[in-house]
Formats: sequence, C-alpha cells, structure tokens
Amino acid sequence: QNFVDIDISSLKAGQQITVTWQGHPVFILNRPAEALQALQDSNLVSRLRDPDSKELQQPSYTQNWHRSIRPETAVLIGSCTHLGCVPTLKLGAKLGSFYNCACHGSRFDLAGRVYKSVPAPYNLPIPPYTYLKPNIIRIG
Ligand code: FES
Repeated sequence: QNFVDIDISSLKAGQQITVTWQGHPVFILNRPAEALQALQDSNLVSRLRDPDSKELQQPSYTQNWHRSIRPETAVLIGSCTHLGCVPTLKLGAKLGSFYNCACHGSRFDLAGRVYKSVPAPYNLPIPPYTYLKPNIIRIG
C-alpha cells in the first residue's frame, strides 16, 4: 500500500504525531497561532538558508509561506537532510520553536525550513498528500 490515511481530529495546537509512510517518518504538527506568526517574522526568515524552498522539489500546493495545504497543519518528512536522523520538536515562545537534529546540530523551523550554517543542506521534504475529509489526511 502506497498511502496512509490519518485522522487528525484529536490533534491539538502544539501537538505532533509521527506516522510511517514508505519507510519514512512523517510529522503531522498542529502549529499554534504564535508559531504561524513566527514563520513570517523577518528575524526568523533572515536566518534560513532557503526560505522560499527554491532548491527543493515539493508539491505545488505547498509552495507558500507555510509549506502546507492548511496553514495550521504541517506535514513534513521527519528525516534530517544531512544524514537522516529524526529531528526533535522543541516548542518555545515566539521564535523559540524549531526542530533540532541531535546528531550534528541541524535546526529547522516549524515549516521544515533549514537554518543557515548547519550541516543539513536542504529543507525537510514534503510528501504528497491530500485531505479526504476535513480531518482525514491521505499521505501518498
Ligand atoms: Fe541531522 Fe546530521 S543527521 S545534523
């Protein structure tokens, strides 16, 4: 089976679930309003290597500032683009939320965009996905 369906109706703001799709961990994160604001903050954007995801192929429907279909719901392949470790979600106030890769210190924002001056060369990839119903996501 090449797809996986996930019910996100119980996913609260700030919560993340990880599902497996084709052997990859996929993060589904309900981004709080504050985190969405941070994604658009110039102080964050100036610290990103490729804020507009120009260097990485991703689904056309995620070519926007939040890199997702719905702003609040991030869907990202949770595999560091350096050597493939699984980054950890760190939630903090204002600009203090990010994904940290403990293996060699790479850091990504909550849209999976990589920071400058870390080992990971690219943003986290985004899998193909769609909404079957308002709370059901099909990945694949
Ligand atoms: Fe993530 Fe090296 S595998 S920083």
